[in-house]
Order: sequence, then C-alpha cells, then structure tokens
Amino acid sequence: MLQAEELAVRFDGTPALEGATLDVGAGEVVTVLGPSGSGKTTLLRVIAGLQLPDAGRVLLDGSDLAGVPPHRRGIGLVFQDHALFPHRDVLGNVAFGLRMRGDPPDAVARRVGELLELVGLAGLEQRSVGTLSGGEQQRVALARALAPEPRVLLLDEPLGSLDRRLRDRLLDDLAHLFDELGLTAVYVTHDQTEAFTLGDRVAVMRDGRVVQVATPDELWARPLDADVARFLGIANVRADELVRPEAVRVLRTHGRGMGVIERAVRTGPVVRIRVRLDDGGMLEAVAATIDHPSPGDRVDVDIDPEGIVRLR
Ligand SMILES: Nc1ncnc2c1ncn2[C@@H]1O[C@H](COP(=O)(O)OP(=O)(O)OP(=O)(O)O)[C@@H](O)[C@H]1O
Ligand SMILES: [Mg+2]
Repeated sequence: MLQAEELAVRFDGTPALEGATLDVGAGEVVTVLGPSGSGKTTLLRVIAGLQLPDAGRVLLDGSDLAGVPPHRRGIGLVFQDHALFPHRDVLGNVAFGLRMRGDPPDAVARRVGELLELVGLAGLEQRSVGTLSGGEQQRVALARALAPEPRVLLLDEPLGSLDRRLRDRLLDDLAHLFDELGLTAVYVTHDQTEAFTLGDRVAVMRDGRVVQVATPDELWARPLDADVARFLGIANVRADELVRPEAVRVLRTHGRGMGVIERAVRTGPVVRIRVRLDDGGMLEAVAATIDHPSPGDRVDVDIDPEGIVRLR
C-alpha cells in the first residue's frame, strides 16, 4: 500500500535519512520507534511530501508520489505541535480540509459532527480551540486529519506533550479507533509502550535507517542486535547475547547463595530486582510476586534457557 524505498535526505551535508525503507500494508499500523535524531520526523515529512528526498521514492498503491504536492497525496497528518488554527472554533478546524476541496456546507457539517462523535468531542463544534485542554486539542487535530478520509494517516508523537494518564487514555482510544476504521497509519514515537500498544509491526530506526521491522512479540524475542535490545529497554544485554529479565528467577537461598540483592524496586505490577553475582556480574530480574527478596539478601539465581537470546 505505502512504500518508502531507500530514502536519503541530507541537511548541509549531514545525513538525516540514509537509505530508509519502509513497507506498510493496507489497514496496517506501523509504529516507528527510534532515538532522538534518528530521522523519524524526516521520514514522515518525506512521505507527506513536505520534504524532498535527495534519493529514493515513495509509492502509494504502486504509484510514485514524486511531484504530487502534499494536499493531493491523500495523506492525513497529525503532528505533536498540533498546529490547529487558534482563532477558529472546533468546527472551523475540523472542516478545513473539507472546505478547501469544496464540499457543500451541509455535507461538511454532517461529516464534522460524525468525526467529533468518533473522537469523543460530540457537540463541541462552536468551542474556540484556545479553550480546549491539550488532550482535547489533540483529538481535534486527529478529527481534522481524518475528515477528508485520507488513504494513509501519519502521526508524529501525537501524544508527546500530554501527561502520562491522559496519554494512556488516548492511547486506548487510538488503538480502538485504528481498529474500528481499519486505518493504514505510520505512527512515530520514542515511547516503547506506545509503539508496542499501537503497532501491528514496529519499525526501529537508527542513524537514518530502518534497521528492524517486526511484530512487538518478535521484536521483544529477537532484537536485531545489542543496540536495538538496549534501546528497547531489555536488561542484561551483553555483546553477543541477552538474558531477558523475565526469565531470571531470584530465590532466597538456603545455602551460600550465588549473589546479593543490590536493588528491588516495584514499578507497578512487577518488581525490578538487581542482583550482584559473586563472580562480579550483574543480573536484572523482574518478578510478579508480592513477596520478594530485599537489598542485602543472599540469593540463588535460576535462568530459564528460553530467555537467553543470542545476538548477532
Ligand atoms: N530542517 C533541518 N535542517 C537541518 N537539519 C535538520 C532539519 N531537520 C532535521 N534535521 C536533522 O536531521 C536529523 C534527523 O532529524 P529528525 O527530526 O528526523 O529526527 P527524529 O528522529 O524525529 O528526532 P526526535 O525524536 O528528536 O523528534 C537530526 O540530526 C536533525 O538535527
Ligand atoms: Mg521528531
């Protein structure tokens, strides 16, 4: 459906994209995860037609988009700084694209009503966007992008500026919406939870390239290399192998033990435990138990072999 092939972009000689390739199927949501500066926004801007690539091409349903201006690409955009029109009301914002292409006023009003319903803002047509909360503004931006029924929706950290709780709620809503509408979307984030929750597949970017594309399960099970594993926040990564922390069992010892608990922190349903092994190594474990050993306790460690992954 959407293909970005070998895209290259340089700014003053410095590469922002270097052969970035991404394939998105119809109805698929691909989340793009990567460190700051890895080229995520640039990739979206090239797909949207806001940035000309130095090399490579973008295809939509097989046809090359070179020379097609942004507003004729059938691509909807939702960016972090949602760039709503501050002096228009909600209706004026959501209706923008529809009016631009000349839809009749009653059709516009009907469509805007539908969209506000969809994003949970029914009846707010007349509100000035300046009086809306950050989360509400983000929903307006989403409604505006969806209004002209784009073939593809591109989102760049749309929840980035919101607080944690609102983010979690909007994340649920978005997941539901993407599902319901069968949207084809590329969703950029640097938040792993967001990427894993929303993505049918996750594309990991590094230094201007897409280095791995996989389902969340595959990515967690088989990260490409030590860098990707670390970036995903998987602990116990060494040069050529990793030990997934959920495969490490930490048991209070009845004998001498293999090491000592250095830290045990509850982060919600799980406890993150760090063990300093007597041979000098460190091992992170996660435990889903209420009763867990505490710092200073001597422990034994048992590793499920399935949790040991060889890296290339
Ligand atoms: N208009 C520009 N002029 C010069 N350099 C740019 C421009 N836009 C992006 N860059 C550079 O290109 C690289 C990639 O930037 P990009 O914005 O795509 O990264 P990103 O992955 O979106 O990062 P972040 O997570 O911080 O948003 C960065 O080094 C950035 O400084
Ligand atoms: Mg960015």
